[in-house]
Amino acid sequence: MDAVADHRDDNKMLAADDAGIAAAADALARGALVVLPTETVYGLAADATDGAAVAAIFATKDRPRFNPLICHVSDLAMAKRLARFNGLAQQLAEAFWPGPLTLVLPLAAESPVHPLATAGLQTVAVRMPSGIAGRVIERLGRPVAAPSANRSGKISPTTAKAAQDSLGPRAPMIIDAGPASVGLESTIISVGHDGKPICLRPGGLALSDIEAVVGHPVARAAANGPIAAPGMLRSHYAPNAPMRLNVTEVRPGEALLAFGPKPVNGAENAILAHNLSPTGDLAEAAANLFTTLAALDAASPSAIAAMAVPKEGLGEAINDRLARAAAPRPAG
Ligand code: TXA
Ligand code: MG
Repeated sequence: MDAVADHRDDNKMLAADDAGIAAAADALARGALVVLPTETVYGLAADATDGAAVAAIFATKDRPRFNPLICHVSDLAMAKRLARFNGLAQQLAEAFWPGPLTLVLPLAAESPVHPLATAGLQTVAVRMPSGIAGRVIERLGRPVAAPSANRSGKISPTTAKAAQDSLGPRAPMIIDAGPASVGLESTIISVGHDGKPICLRPGGLALSDIEAVVGHPVARAAANGPIAAPGMLRSHYAPNAPMRLNVTEVRPGEALLAFGPKPVNGAENAILAHNLSPTGDLAEAAANLFTTLAALDAASPSAIAAMAVPKEGLGEAINDRLARAAAPRPAG
């Protein structure tokens, strides 16, 4: 608990303005944690070069083990101090940064990232977020390690309040920049030296967009294969209520997670219903997914009944998160 207390700063919400950015950068420079808004989800950030600050992330989240963290940068020059870029990595960074894409790359010689942030691996996950987070990192002048700002195993926060609620009294200062525009964690691509990209986690950048840039299909890592992102626990994003997926009818006492314009049988049985996107827009559904799951869960339904979501484009990541939310929970 001491690691948490030592690295907790004033528990307050900051505006997403110059003063908020300066206060957040100062706190990070002192080794404190800050919750930063990114376009994907809110992140629990620490100076990635400061081992004690990175350790405080794990303590604050109650992470069961030291999973490697994504290191966030404000420009390509900073990224290249952390990691080695081959031609493909350079191409992907130029096409999609800043944005919801994380690249897993070989660690650079003399990389300043603390080994706790990489879990001692010889690779590092790097991402350039857009908006406020990028401006805070630019001002700090150092990379920032940040997992999603929730207690381990819970739904990723897409608003400042969701981060505050999930971390509770342990929450550090939070910059509130409103709801995250993408709403799903970044897509993680491993770029090996053989020049072949492998998707370790589908996310807020559709693989079809990446495939359009690289010019061929991108392989998906086997869910439990050796190179899957170590943090991809099967039960994750867990609401308290059990989940039923691809439902065609709603049972009494359930909450309905609807998608698209088509009605579902038994909708009148639902104690609460929300539609991720009444028009069937996958980007809108992605942005709404985590807040909607949390809102339905808060009504304590017997189960959350989720209608099918198409698997193309961003639907791949939405289905991945729904499957994890529905997976059997670890005991306790
Ligand atoms: O959108 C996002 O990616 C958000 C925001 C805050 O940037 N962050 C996020 O972090 O989702 P987190 O810690 O929840 O997920 C990071 C994932 C984990 O599954 C971890 O195992 C994987 O990245 N990862 C990190 N470093 C890796 C590495 N060197 N090799 C393979 N996987 C790695
Ligand atoms: Mg997470």
